[in-house]
Amino acid sequence: MDRFDVVVIGGGPGGYVAAIRAAQLGFKVACIDEWKNVKGGPAPGGTCTNVGCIPSKALLQSSEHYDHALHHFADHGITVKGASMDVAKMLARKDTVVKQNNDGILYLFKKNKVTFFHGRGSFAGAVKEGVYEIKVDPSPGSGQTEPAATSITAKHVIIATGSNARALPGAAFDEKLILSNDGALRIGDVPKKLGVIGAGVIGLEMGSVWRRLGADVTVLEGLPTFLGAVDEQIAKEAAKLFKKQGLNISLGVKVGAIKAGKSDVTIEYATAEGKAETVTFDKLIVSIGRVPNTIGLNADAAGVKLDERGFIIVDGDCKTSQPNVWAVGDVVRGPMLAHKAEEEGVAVAERIAGQHPHIDFNCIPWVIYTSPEIAWVGKTEQQLKAEGVAYKSGSFPFMANGRARALGNTDGMVKILADAKTDKVLGMHAVGPVVSELIAEGVMAMEFGASSEDIARICHAHPTLSEATKEAALAVDKRTLNF
Ligand code: FAD
Ligand code: NAI
Repeated sequence: MDRFDVVVIGGGPGGYVAAIRAAQLGFKVACIDEWKNVKGGPAPGGTCTNVGCIPSKALLQSSEHYDHALHHFADHGITVKGASMDVAKMLARKDTVVKQNNDGILYLFKKNKVTFFHGRGSFAGAVKEGVYEIKVDPSPGSGQTEPAATSITAKHVIIATGSNARALPGAAFDEKLILSNDGALRIGDVPKKLGVIGAGVIGLEMGSVWRRLGADVTVLEGLPTFLGAVDEQIAKEAAKLFKKQGLNISLGVKVGAIKAGKSDVTIEYATAEGKAETVTFDKLIVSIGRVPNTIGLNADAAGVKLDERGFIIVDGDCKTSQPNVWAVGDVVRGPMLAHKAEEEGVAVAERIAGQHPHIDFNCIPWVIYTSPEIAWVGKTEQQLKAEGVAYKSGSFPFMANGRARALGNTDGMVKILADAKTDKVLGMHAVGPVVSELIAEGVMAMEFGASSEDIARICHAHPTLSEATKEAALAVDKRTLNF
């Protein structure tokens, strides 16, 4: 049986990054991942690479180009006659981007001398003589005997098995009519009428893709507020812009029976006012959150405890209930974000090496890649009010930013929240063009304990969108220069 210092189960952003960092620190490392590509070969990178961050951003980019060609090129004097969308080509491009990422991870494993096993990893039992035995089954559940399963041992095990889409009761995903994120990224023809349940991150991103391509998109959201976790002012602005684009969002609905027919799906629901409605869609995306994945891990055998919702229980350092068993990413508490999983993976590898890394969960940024994008870090105004923190707020609209005008994209704003007494930055919130990139400045400022004045005094290149961040910081002190 091959013996490793560290075995990582799961090769998504949490797992593959943990494996690389552990190898950099001198450990003998293996990473096991079961994801298969269409040919049955390895496809490391997890949800993020295969059916999440990467393919969704590829489709968002393609559909945005199309939208620009149809609606915005004319403003620049460009005439496009007969623009059309080849959905098959768009999907093939997306698949190529995914494969480039899969191959990139396999290359990184080789470069860092991480041994990769393609198959399902499971605990064979409890720790014995200081090591865990992990079974690797290359064809779990298939009944095949070839290739044969192997077993390896490890002193440390990092569980990074990720999450799966949550289905609505009575409406299992068939990925043809009732779609999870997986099917939503593979729709072969633009549906005439697309339904989305859940106005969260996936609902808005996927809804935007198919709306731009011509679908009539209706989003049904259970909560009465739109994007409740987002700063209210930003969420309000985003809602206004999405409505203008033609995305129909109904809040406070109660979804009832869902019936899939031969070629469409019918949903009964009650509106916020209690009115009964029935609507039929060509396709339905269900994006109501995700559940942790521990299928086939046999965590019980090793005595690794789960909570009542199926998450692996960990402490602040990602230690599980068993010695030398760690867990990171979507399978543990905290936001289900690729960069959060990566940070935890790195931190665990460093803790195994005796180092003392620290992750500040308050400084983990969020981005919703709609157009305009929404990004934030730290506290929202509503959180600060609820916590009784005295704060100052400064915001700056892209309408007054030269680069945004030149881009032809002046929707939205940047907002900075700072402590009323100390001026320390407590949060940054933005809706607008490429704010996914701008938010890094807010994260950096918060990680360094910067004040809004610090940001205001930094020289920002002109003309850039980042000048809106500087101006928002100036606005905290009521001294914007360009507004
Ligand atoms: P995963 O990426 O889920 O990886 C887990 C891996 O473990 C999988 O490959 C799985 O096959 C494997 N596995 C599971 N059990 C076993 C086992 N027993 N043996 C072997 N292998 C196993 N986050 C962002 O930060 N930015 C985004 O833009 C973004 N976009 C998203 C878009 C969509 C449509 C979705 C669904 C998610 C998106 N996310 C995004 C979330 C992000 O994908 C997850 O937070 C991230 O993938 C979690 O990483 P992970 O390593 O914990 O798990
Ligand atoms: P989500 O948690 O973002 O949104 C789910 C939405 O569905 C919520 O608004 C919720 O109120 C609503 N909902 C729940 N049950 C409902 C019901 N029965 N009827 C109607 N509405 C209901 O979850 P989503 O969009 O599925 O995404 C899962 C996670 O994946 C995200 O939370 C995020 O962590 C990650 N992700 C991140 C992305 C990014 O970083 N850009 C992109 C996509 C996903």
